[in-house]
Amino acid sequence: MMRIPVIGGNWKMYKDLAETTSFFESFRPLVERSEHCEIVIFPPFLDLEIAVTATCGTRIQIGAQDLYWAKEGAFTGEVSGSMIRAVGCSHVIVGHSERRQYFGETNEGVLKKTLAALDSGLTPIVCMGEREKKNAKAVLTEQFRCAIGALSAGQFARIVIAYEPVWAIGTSEAATPEDAANAHQFIRGQAKGSFGAEAANNVRILYGGSVTPNDAKSLMAQSEIDGFLVGGASLDPVSFASIVNF
Ligand code: PGA
Repeated sequence: MMRIPVIGGNWKMYKDLAETTSFFESFRPLVERSEHCEIVIFPPFLDLEIAVTATCGTRIQIGAQDLYWAKEGAFTGEVSGSMIRAVGCSHVIVGHSERRQYFGETNEGVLKKTLAALDSGLTPIVCMGEREKKNAKAVLTEQFRCAIGALSAGQFARIVIAYEPVWAIGTSEAATPEDAANAHQFIRGQAKGSFGAEAANNVRILYGGSVTPNDAKSLMAQSEIDGFLVGGASLDPVSFASIVNF
């Protein structure tokens, strides 16, 4: 089975409405013929609606960077999966390391958000990754067990995983293709243990952390790497398009 690559652009807290519109004006023609992969852009909440409008009728999909697990209620400042879906999004990032580091997100919260995303009909991109290289396997095992291992087989079949070593995010120090592939293989092994060989073989595992147009090709040459979650280099339409068109 061929895993179709997913190339995601996580804008984090960058770009207002005008900047979002002008990004898509430049970006749309650059990826018009990019049929080899799924393209998903994750703008800040306030830009979602305009991003959905700007990409209507194209192959570019839009996702949110986070969600809250309740359907609705007195949760000041939060946004639910159904609200994100209603605006026209298809995806949502869950458990990004910046959410874990600055906003107290736990593995248990990541699981709840993943379930809420699936319930709302969104595809969750579930992020995991170690802070320090030396204890990668222990951290990945724990994150997988708590945040993903508790899903049902049917739920697991609908998620995408992003391996994002924290030491590589925003540092210009991307993992080497071999190191990233080894980590992906390790995560796929966890998936096999919990969900069986076929499910493990089907799940897409994206790499994230300082991906640039220069290293996209060598990373994608690894059969274990099924696409990227790109931060900094997704803000510029030309640089993100050259990653999409690796
Ligand atoms: P970066 O961010 O590409 O700027 O390192 C990746 C991410 O945080 O998803």
